[in-house]
Amino acid sequence: MSVQTGRQQPDYRGSYHFSPKANWINDPNGLVHYDGEYHLFFQYHPFGTIWGPMHWGHAVSSDLVHWEELNIALVPDEHGAIFSGSAVVDWNNTSGFFSDGPGLVAVFTHHAETPGRPFIQHQSLAYSADRGRTWTKYEGNPVLRSEAPADFRDPKVFWHADTSSWVMILACGQVVKLFRSPDLKNWTESSSFGDGIGCHDGVWECPDLFPLAVDGDSSRIIWVMLVSVGAQPNLAEGSRTQYFTGNFDGRTFVPDEASRQIRWLDYGRDNYAGVSWSDVPAEDGRRLYIGWMSNWHYANQTPTEGWRGAMTIVRELTLETHGAQTVLVQRPTRELEERRRPLLELGRSSAEELNEALDKLAPRLPDGYEVTVRVPEGVSFGVRVKEGAGAADVKSGTLIGVDAAANTLYVDRTRSGVSDFHELFAGRHTAPLHDPVAESAGGALELRIFVDRSSVEVFAGDGKAAVTDLIFPRAGANGISVSADEAEEKEGAFAVEEFRLYAIGGEA
Ligand code: FRU
Repeated sequence: MSVQTGRQQPDYRGSYHFSPKANWINDPNGLVHYDGEYHLFFQYHPFGTIWGPMHWGHAVSSDLVHWEELNIALVPDEHGAIFSGSAVVDWNNTSGFFSDGPGLVAVFTHHAETPGRPFIQHQSLAYSADRGRTWTKYEGNPVLRSEAPADFRDPKVFWHADTSSWVMILACGQVVKLFRSPDLKNWTESSSFGDGIGCHDGVWECPDLFPLAVDGDSSRIIWVMLVSVGAQPNLAEGSRTQYFTGNFDGRTFVPDEASRQIRWLDYGRDNYAGVSWSDVPAEDGRRLYIGWMSNWHYANQTPTEGWRGAMTIVRELTLETHGAQTVLVQRPTRELEERRRPLLELGRSSAEELNEALDKLAPRLPDGYEVTVRVPEGVSFGVRVKEGAGAADVKSGTLIGVDAAANTLYVDRTRSGVSDFHELFAGRHTAPLHDPVAESAGGALELRIFVDRSSVEVFAGDGKAAVTDLIFPRAGANGISVSADEAEEKEGAFAVEEFRLYAIGGEA
């Protein structure tokens, strides 16, 4: 059950999503795996629930689902606030920071602001020899200076084995720049990417660059570049993340044909600044990703109390061939799947049959759950989650579904609950369902819908399209129902091939 505050505000803290105990967070930072732990650092303002002087907060997990929040890792200093960045394991002590074996090195942006002057951003280092519990800033900071005030931030660093060098990808206004270093301290620019390609609606931020084996075939490597694009007041989408595919030789990224088209990682409003984990053990080999579940349009106004901001569920990214296309696919991790408990499993069913079963289940429905549904081709089908009391036509709720005529997947949060904190919050967000997303397994499209106290994350076509949206249901709104094409129902046909509902989290 939701914990009610004195003002009857529902508890919006996700039951299986990371959010800070108190105060403001934004981007995930310093994602690195080391010694059995996944580290999640994050942009953190410890003195308020709105964005402010940035620190790096810190959490660790052994299973990517349960996070333990630790002490603040990095605090502002004479060079400025601590903006986004990454962390790596320096296995061979190339930096010389460690006297005994490997250690962790964080590479981050120092953001300096003097009243009346434009800000300036430089890249700096900190290191930890005790599994990330305490950090020492490098006395030679900054290690990569901006020549002039400009957007110059969010370093993502990785070891490029083929050329035995560290590589940094950095967001620089409307392009990303690539740098190389033997020791993490001395950096040389090798190339720039972004001119005349991709979406330039806003400032480029939080890039990432990593190789993926197509269909798991290690002889077919394609590099994936993620670039987050900042919000513009006049564009409804706000902040979102695009991706490119191509080749990278350690110095230059060469985009492939498919990258001529703008491609979005997520069609929802609330998945931004996401990047991937470094140093996931080779025997595991997954490329694991997490995003900040908000949008700069309204991130400072969302109606939570005492804390603000959460992360998406962790997703595994893969590249898969579908027809003539290579698609970036994202799926929830197996660790999250292992936490599920089945509550309902139905085969071919009409909407009426499903609603009967859901009504019976209602008293046992937890705040966090997954719905997996297989919708036959050509059928419009919707699931309404976090439904509030009232007659059917005035009920509040978030509608997630397939529009067969428009060939889209949608999340409609126009009546999802509290939305008056920003004019651009209420709305309907769609993802196209053309092939290869709609390419169906057995004539049906699979939707996986992850619902929590203040979010929905929808994966369609086995992870080929994603929509992530925040929602703020009113107290007590935890109903669920389905609807289908009237035509389908009249003919007595079934609305779904299969419908499953799993509890996620600790509640029964
Ligand atoms: C992205 C971002 C980054 C910056 C950080 C500041 O959301 O704007 O570019 O480093 O947030 O908190």
